[in-house]
Amino acid sequence: MRAKQEPISVLTAYDASFARVLDEAGVDCILVGDSLGNVIQGRKTTVPVTLDDMRYHVSAVRRGSNRAMLIADLPYMSYHNRDVAVESSGRLMQAGAEMVKLEGGTPIILDSVKALTDLGVPVCGHLGLTPQSVHQLSGYRVQGRSEQAREQLIRQAHELVAAGAAMLVLECVPVSLAGRIQSELDIPIIGIGAGREVAGQVLVLYDMFGIQSGYSPRFVRNFLADGGSIQAAVERYVAAVKQGDFPSDAEAFLD
Ligand code: KIV
Repeated sequence: MRAKQEPISVLTAYDASFARVLDEAGVDCILVGDSLGNVIQGRKTTVPVTLDDMRYHVSAVRRGSNRAMLIADLPYMSYHNRDVAVESSGRLMQAGAEMVKLEGGTPIILDSVKALTDLGVPVCGHLGLTPQSVHQLSGYRVQGRSEQAREQLIRQAHELVAAGAAMLVLECVPVSLAGRIQSELDIPIIGIGAGREVAGQVLVLYDMFGIQSGYSPRFVRNFLADGGSIQAAVERYVAAVKQGDFPSDAEAFLD
């Protein structure tokens, strides 16, 4: 799809029923995100989410979908060295995932990405705002604003690709930075709060239904606000991504 310049629509799901709705509405990839810690478990961060939690939700989503590609998040401290990453990924792949996603771009992460790729496990990287590092980042903030941070993100994106990553999520970075990284990489970048100049978009399902507790980030659009069914809201999201109508400039971080 990236080669054909066809925008890629991604949404999260955590159970079989919503997975079926997404599958039938034409979503390209379903991400079983560790955001389930926030939206399912009611936690403040994704840090407490366990591999057993992820396995449970991946197998439920697997039973509900048979078309969309299924990506699963490796949760906090389930990939802190290559052996643990391989073991954890094996469990998620056997639960039904077709790709695993991990956060960061330091040498430890690159080593795990290489090991997984060498073993035939497709890997998606995740840079920018990496929620599992929220305590190190001092909160949920836009990343890559300073020249040094920009250069680091660009370098890490290239290193992830060299290690074997086949896809990259970029979260909460300025539009120009996301566009520059995408223009330098052949693999698809899936943006969330990263503007339109990337290969695809992802949102947390509950956010795009307007189910939020308190603060709503600027990159979230409520696709259920105009009424209709849940299926219709998901179809509106897919159409907006495919037509390049989402995100708007107001839903992105300009420099
Ligand atoms: O956990 C998640 O849902 C994610 C997306 C927000 C990209 O990582």
